[in-house]
Amino acid sequence: MKFNFESSGAYSADVIVIGVKQDRVLTQAGMELDLKFSRILTRSMQASHFKGKRGQTLLVTAPEEPEASYILLIGLGDTSKLTVQALEELGGTIYSTLSKIPVESIEVYLEEAAAKDINDGQAAAAIAGGFNLRSWRFDKYRTKEKDENIPTLSSLTCITSHLDDAKKCFQRNLAVAEGVALTRELVSEAPNVLYPETFAEAALKLKSLGVDVEVMGEKQLTKLGMNALLGVGQGSAKESQLVVMSYHGGAKGEAPLAFIGKGVCFDSGGISIKPSANMDEMKYDMGGAGVVTGLMKALAGRKAKINAVGVIGLVENMPGGNAQRPGDIVTSMSGQTIEILNTDAEGRLVLADALWYTQDRFKPRLMINLATLTGAIVVSLGSEYAGLFSNNDEISQQLEEVGRETDEKLWRFPLHENYDKDINSDVADVQNIGKGRGAGSITAAQFLKRFVNDVPWAHLDIAGVAWTKTPLALCEKGATAFGVRLLDRFISKYYEN
Ligand code: BES
Ligand code: ZN
Ligand code: ZN
Repeated sequence: MKFNFESSGAYSADVIVIGVKQDRVLTQAGMELDLKFSRILTRSMQASHFKGKRGQTLLVTAPEEPEASYILLIGLGDTSKLTVQALEELGGTIYSTLSKIPVESIEVYLEEAAAKDINDGQAAAAIAGGFNLRSWRFDKYRTKEKDENIPTLSSLTCITSHLDDAKKCFQRNLAVAEGVALTRELVSEAPNVLYPETFAEAALKLKSLGVDVEVMGEKQLTKLGMNALLGVGQGSAKESQLVVMSYHGGAKGEAPLAFIGKGVCFDSGGISIKPSANMDEMKYDMGGAGVVTGLMKALAGRKAKINAVGVIGLVENMPGGNAQRPGDIVTSMSGQTIEILNTDAEGRLVLADALWYTQDRFKPRLMINLATLTGAIVVSLGSEYAGLFSNNDEISQQLEEVGRETDEKLWRFPLHENYDKDINSDVADVQNIGKGRGAGSITAAQFLKRFVNDVPWAHLDIAGVAWTKTPLALCEKGATAFGVRLLDRFISKYYEN
């Protein structure tokens, strides 16, 4: 896709997009077109339910004169209430509406879409950014797709009076979108193609952006004593890996922010095997690791002024002759012993060692882990919010705030020492599932807490939001990359400079 920003337009694209404020008030460019062409826009609006409400669209066939085939009216609603997020969503709507018709070029006239704290250049960048995020699709394996189903859009031009701001702002959006795209690619990939070693190879590609990438295999992980992580992978023919990605954009010696991801490339459940219905979905059980990797790409791509490390534990959870058994007891890197009572509660085992290793080696300023950790969080929150668990009120509030701003929303759950008795084992220090049936997401988080010491820490349970069965404002159905934009903003808003 080609993105352009111009200070004046020629009405020369296949589709001209015109903003309409609430109650059918045309913006300047719209009024000009309307006057030129026998009030075709006014008449089309009057003949329809289109009121200019935010996100409403009306596709009008263009009269002969401008070269365009269509004029797309898009509702801006009350322009005094427009936010960056709303503008991004409008960009997404423009894409989803126009990707269904055989057009290639678009010219967007939304010069009155400037939102509260931003000018029309930054607004144009937000619209183009949302359009770009919405246009991503995973089509590498479709060899027989019908022509009419293949989107033909190839260029978007936004008309704005603040060209420099638009270009600068879009450059940054593009870097973040590339991180999002990497996450979506990793999460969408088939589990016979993406397994721990091939995931690690994908992470190694970040070296070209100046990220240091270390890959550790089973020999090294054994030396480090990561038996909790290794136990999960021992039933698989694929070798487990731990990948450390370090990005140095901040002051030398400044403690890094650390991001840790659950990377279960396929979760069959192991010996506690899952039911076969929908088991294919467990290819996205590496979603947390996917987000961490995409985030590192975004930070490096936009040259963030911060030090950050990404640590991902990559395993495949399979049954097999050497697989971990319910009843096994493993000694984690922290020295704490864990009784495995269900081999399907494996994510917390991977994270136990990855979290311990991270706080031990990097002494980070804070740690945030992401994991498709529990089915229970899907029961609690569905696919709208991700669960937030933390030992720190300040970072919780910061995360909730940027969650609202990026529409990657978080809902905080409690942690409390009283939950500890639910995971205290009769034979080891801790057991990997709760004793009762309640609070499954909380007991999982309470388990993780035992491996973080006093570092300010947050755990995001993204099981319900990493994948979408229906298209979203900024996302085709499938992998969402929920967390990349959230954490990118968290970093830039609160921790850079
Ligand atoms: N990967 C699953 C959690 C999951 C469920 C992710 C649905 C995405 C969508 C996790 O490893 C798991 O199986 N958890 C068990 C834990 C239980 C055995 C205590 C669960 O949630 O059922
Ligand atoms: Zn599992
Ligand atoms: Zn899992």
